[in-house]
Amino acid sequence: MRTTAELREGFLTFFESKGHKRHPSGSLVPPEWDHSTLLNSAGMQPLMPYFAGRETPPAPLLTTVQKVFRTPDIDEVGLDSFHLTFFEMLGNFSFGEYFKEGAIDFAWEFVFDHMRIDPDKFWVTVFGGDVELGLGEDEEAVRLWEAKGLPPERIVRLDRSHNFWSVGGPGPCGPDTELFYDRGEEVGCLRPECAPGCECERFLEFWNLVFMEYELHEDGTVTPLPKQNVDTGLGLERGAAVLQDVISVYETDGYQAIMDWIAAESGVAFGESEKATKAHRILADHGRGMTFLVGDGVVPSNEGRGYVLRRIIRRAVQQARTIGLDDLWRMTDGVAEQMGHWYPELVEHGERI
Ligand code: ALA
Repeated sequence: MRTTAELREGFLTFFESKGHKRHPSGSLVPPEWDHSTLLNSAGMQPLMPYFAGRETPPAPLLTTVQKVFRTPDIDEVGLDSFHLTFFEMLGNFSFGEYFKEGAIDFAWEFVFDHMRIDPDKFWVTVFGGDVELGLGEDEEAVRLWEAKGLPPERIVRLDRSHNFWSVGGPGPCGPDTELFYDRGEEVGCLRPECAPGCECERFLEFWNLVFMEYELHEDGTVTPLPKQNVDTGLGLERGAAVLQDVISVYETDGYQAIMDWIAAESGVAFGESEKATKAHRILADHGRGMTFLVGDGVVPSNEGRGYVLRRIIRRAVQQARTIGLDDLWRMTDGVAEQMGHWYPELVEHGERI
């Protein structure tokens, strides 16, 4: 397993072999009943009624690759090597079947037997507890990782802001454990206390396992859900960066075509200057984002989702100007060509895009 396509297919096939049903990606535009975000921001979001116990899932175990757009990260894109607005999230989901042990067992097997990650570069974080939520440290997760043979010093306990996940408002939620890849001291801050959770770029979070057993209410309290569920999210682009041992998601094979196009059309190489690096990153991310948003029916406007699209187009146009790139819209053809096999809506709506 090496390429982005192999990781995508390998993940889904692995979880199918573990009894999960492959389920299609939902649209970037959430269904009408979902008021949590403007755009779909997680693999679990289209599956929320199943977690909440309001609807019966098509199978008790599902696996998906879901289109995701994270609006809060728009301004982060360009500044580092791994923030993206649009990305694909791989996930395995259990509705009341396996819980912490099963999720950690599967992740361990996939990471070491399939992704073949160097065990010396593997770290995790776990929920350290929260007084306001009335929940203690996730001792069970710690014990399960230790039982796998992970050295205790590579299990880091973090607070609610890092290791308790919800979609960003009321709804299903729970403590999580995040999987990290150590990209080496040389890309980090060199502080002795540097570890997952540090702001620097050394430790890359690539997979989040959420133990979704609570419902978050408007008043900030949590109550147990009818069942204990699992929701995981492995960022495909970050996973590919780990597999290919490159520092930046933009250097993975999945971005090759669009990065080459930007360089060829502008005559400015990626990494030529700080300004160029930022421009190429923003153009690549927003180029994919705008293509997929229009593919899912979003139209530029002054409000809501349309404004998100307008903002990323405007940011992309600004960056295109800094490196002398014209006819930005042609970038969308390349995205559709590269990704249309997986996302036929890009081909179907090619004219509109
Ligand atoms: N829902 C979790 C996330 O998006 C897996 O990180």
